[in-house]
Amino acid sequence: MQRVTLHDKTFEVSIPNAEILAAIDALAARINADYRDRGGVPLFLGVLNGAFMFMGELMQRIDFECEVSFVKLASYRGTRSTGSVSELIGLTSDLQGRDIIIVEDIVDTGESVDYILRSLVGHEPASVSVATLLYKPASCRHDVVPDYPAISIPNDFIVGFGLDYNQLGRNLKDIYTLVEA
Ligand code: IMP
Ligand code: MG
Repeated sequence: MQRVTLHDKTFEVSIPNAEILAAIDALAARINADYRDRGGVPLFLGVLNGAFMFMGELMQRIDFECEVSFVKLASYRGTRSTGSVSELIGLTSDLQGRDIIIVEDIVDTGESVDYILRSLVGHEPASVSVATLLYKPASCRHDVVPDYPAISIPNDFIVGFGLDYNQLGRNLKDIYTLVEA
């Protein structure tokens, strides 16, 4: 089994590139069928950094007129509060009355997607759906189930195809799972 070491941890291939691309083929076909004849110009809104590679592959397979943009979820520790604070940055498009498709690398607990969905409400989009390359159903909050999950995985830590371990591994073309020591 092909292995890679990033920082102090070892990972082994769990989803080969061909399997990832086949799952994206199937996902794009579903999105095309759902949006093709809807009218308007839907906006794909990728969440950086993790979604960059998935977005690139997905968009090559979308066959209706659409726009593409990216946002970033910045998390930082508040200076006085103990909890971490998030902020959605980079949102420049006018979302009012638009069909929005959020494009995520992974939905784990669902906290990030939930935050983004709540941030978009005030912009009054016509609809918002969530496409994600990877989905961990076992750890996800039941109220934020993604509309378009490409691949469901167990509750393991993974890297590759955009996903990182402390910023390394995003460039790997396959997905790797952490090997427990
Ligand atoms: P959430 O728990 O659904 O809010 O996911 C938060 C973020 O954690 C994701 O957008 C990823 O950036 C990161 N994340 C969750 N699971 C993994 C993983 O297995 N590998 C790498 N990053 C992950
Ligand atoms: Mg992410």
